[in-house]
Amino acid sequence: MTETLESLFEPIRARIAAATDEDELRKIERETLDKGGTVAALLAAIPSLPGPKRPLAGKRANELKNAIGAALAEARERLARLAMERERTGAGFDPTLPGARISRGGLHPLVAVTRELEDLFTSMGYVVLDGPEIETDYHNFEALNIPRDHPARDMQDTFRLDLEGKLVLRTHTSAVQARGLKRLADEIRAGRFAPPFRAIVPGKVFRQETTDASHEHTFHQMEGLVVGKDVSVGHLIGAMKTLLRGVFGREIEIRLRPGYFPFVEPGFELDARCPFCKEGCSVCKRSTWIELLPCGLVHPNVLQECGIDPEHWSGFAFGLGLSRLVMLRYGIDDVRLLLSGDLRFLEQF
Ligand code: DAH
Repeated sequence: MTETLESLFEPIRARIAAATDEDELRKIERETLDKGGTVAALLAAIPSLPGPKRPLAGKRANELKNAIGAALAEARERLARLAMERERTGAGFDPTLPGARISRGGLHPLVAVTRELEDLFTSMGYVVLDGPEIETDYHNFEALNIPRDHPARDMQDTFRLDLEGKLVLRTHTSAVQARGLKRLADEIRAGRFAPPFRAIVPGKVFRQETTDASHEHTFHQMEGLVVGKDVSVGHLIGAMKTLLRGVFGREIEIRLRPGYFPFVEPGFELDARCPFCKEGCSVCKRSTWIELLPCGLVHPNVLQECGIDPEHWSGFAFGLGLSRLVMLRYGIDDVRLLLSGDLRFLEQF
């Protein structure tokens, strides 16, 4: 037994002396001194030795335990000294090694396009308005000339948030038109501001849709609103042509078709000549026209409801589908990718 103890220490001592970090020392400590380790096993075996051999064996086992403990402590001190020395002299630090790569985030395509459009419109004197995503039925519908039970409500499948039907997730950024117009009416009344008033409202909207490649329950729109004296369809066309020039970097032909939206009169669907082809492609479904946005002259009922005299003022409004525009711009074929958070998609921008 005593021989076993001597011969046990030598390899352990050698391992401790060769250890180059705390992890190795800790491993040796676990294998020897910790509960279940070799020294602990030896100590546990002593009571089963013949009586006369026990005292010496016990003494040696304790010596072994102390020797290992001392060797470990010494090794730890050695490592600490070494680390301090390295720090002091800068040894082991290679300044030519490249640093750890930090992955930089990028702008989401929706954010990039929104910012671009904000720059474009603010340069034309528009302000950027914001409004709540949880909206009242009043601002989302009623103030926009869509009374309760009006069939036009069926055009937008609405998420309702309460049983009385007072709160909705806004189905369009047009809801902020009503808020903006009311603010404008206050400002005009107080003599603090005089039209023309120009605003855009980029933001998230919600519809209770069955989702597929071209439908998503949450998507982005950008509303536009201009109020002034004798604002006409000509002004609307001018603004839309400037918008297209900004987005596609060149003149793009447009056409208006009649469209019905309760908050505008007359209302239009504005089509743009397909910017991607001359004789028809998959984006314009071979027609050379793409349906770009609905728009029109603000309905007098809406102005009236928001406190602006339709005899004095008129305006135009448009509802740009931001998600759709981003898809067109980058050739994205599934709207669900936009809010998927999928890095394989996002890292392409
Ligand atoms: N708010 C409408 C929608 O989301 C779009 C719209 C149509 C907005 C005509 C307008 C407009 O400003 O004039 O379906």
